[in-house]
Amino acid sequence: MTQSKNIVWHDSVVSKQDRSRQNDHQSPVLWFTGLSGSGKSTITVELEKALFEKGIRSYRLDGDNIRHGLNNNLGFSPEDRKENIRRIGEVAKLLNDAGLITLTAFISPYREDRDNVRNLLADGDFIEVYVKCSLESCEARDPKGLYQKARAGEIKGFTGIDAPYEEPEQPELVIDTENKSVDEAVAEIIEYLEIRSYI
Ligand code: PPS
Repeated sequence: MTQSKNIVWHDSVVSKQDRSRQNDHQSPVLWFTGLSGSGKSTITVELEKALFEKGIRSYRLDGDNIRHGLNNNLGFSPEDRKENIRRIGEVAKLLNDAGLITLTAFISPYREDRDNVRNLLADGDFIEVYVKCSLESCEARDPKGLYQKARAGEIKGFTGIDAPYEEPEQPELVIDTENKSVDEAVAEIIEYLEIRSYI
């Protein structure tokens, strides 16, 4: 890793705890991971809306969107996916310090990359949400027609087809989108946050 010399960390006088107190909620990172088409974006959009309506400050980081800007120089090789997740992890850490609840929706197929983000954050601030859906169902949904292109060989290295997806081993939450509606998923996540006093 390249690290600049002659750089000194400058602390704020307003702490993360001060911001949490002012917001009246904690600022965990909810890290949604799952196959393309599993429902990550759909759930995080609705969850963001539900949190907003409760007066809770949150912000959504989504794979397709972030790849239009911050990460528009990255593709889908294992190295680029790693860098994608590393940068998002760093952004999520800033939002965590800023007192916002972060909702990330990235395939994030590699366990090690997800664990690296977990290790960036304080205990309890990383909530891994596995958006579980079989490859067959994701492929049947194929909302963007990408599985079809991948099967036809028009996209190389597509997750689940010719690139791996490593399932989380001990996620904090599993949302099975083959058996749960979006509203049920949102309600379950909000309940999780309430029971543990994040919100
Ligand atoms: S990753 O693996 O976390 O870096 O991917 P992510 O940043 O979440 O981007 C996934 C979205 O990019 C589109 N796309 C691909 N996905 C997987 N593999 C390949 N090769 C690929 N090429 C393009 C796809 O629309 C993904 O969006 P979602 O929302 O997951 O369906």
